[in-house]
Amino acid sequence: MAASPNEALRTIHTREAIAARVAELGQRIAADYGKELPIFVSVLKGSFMFAADLARELPQSVRIEFLGVQSYGSGTVSTGAVQITQDLTHPIEGQDILIVEDIVDTGLTLAYILSLMRARGVRSVKVCAFLDKPSRRRVEVPVDYVGFTIPDVFVVGYGLDCAEQYRNLPSLCELLQPPAK
Ligand code: IMP
Ligand code: MG
Repeated sequence: MAASPNEALRTIHTREAIAARVAELGQRIAADYGKELPIFVSVLKGSFMFAADLARELPQSVRIEFLGVQSYGSGTVSTGAVQITQDLTHPIEGQDILIVEDIVDTGLTLAYILSLMRARGVRSVKVCAFLDKPSRRRVEVPVDYVGFTIPDVFVVGYGLDCAEQYRNLPSLCELLQPPAK
């Protein structure tokens, strides 16, 4: 998908810049974990593209699971209530987990996912987020690996959507007419 010049989109990070940063993250994760890579838990839908690219930067085989979540109140004010729309296909007790997220905004979704992982008795859990928007944080959450830190703007592309649009933009763009928060 190419952004049409008429659309209200402003490129923040190009496809090439994203690829370079994802490669760096992959190298760091590989160096930190060594031979025993964690199980990737890709949070759907927004992280599907990031998780696919990140996984291909790793030198060894890596297990990938998907967790579908939906935050109530998206588009308005987030309530922090999160619904699991698709669960993991394998037990994760005793495993090392890397949560792969598209963006940490208020932190409420991630806080919920982290408590869910801990309740399932994982050995360790770390977080790799493509984007971090720290100015909007409402709960403190640990983010171990961050692709890019961005200001308080609404972004789309590289997996992130606005009303299910723009996920397949290869670049990350600011949506200049964002939905009401
Ligand atoms: P939270 O506020 O940290 O719980 O983030 C909830 C979810 O809101 C994220 O996982 C994204 O799916 C979505 N989100 C937050 N900010 C943006 C944005 O700028 N663009 C697209 N989706 C966003
Ligand atoms: Mg998300």
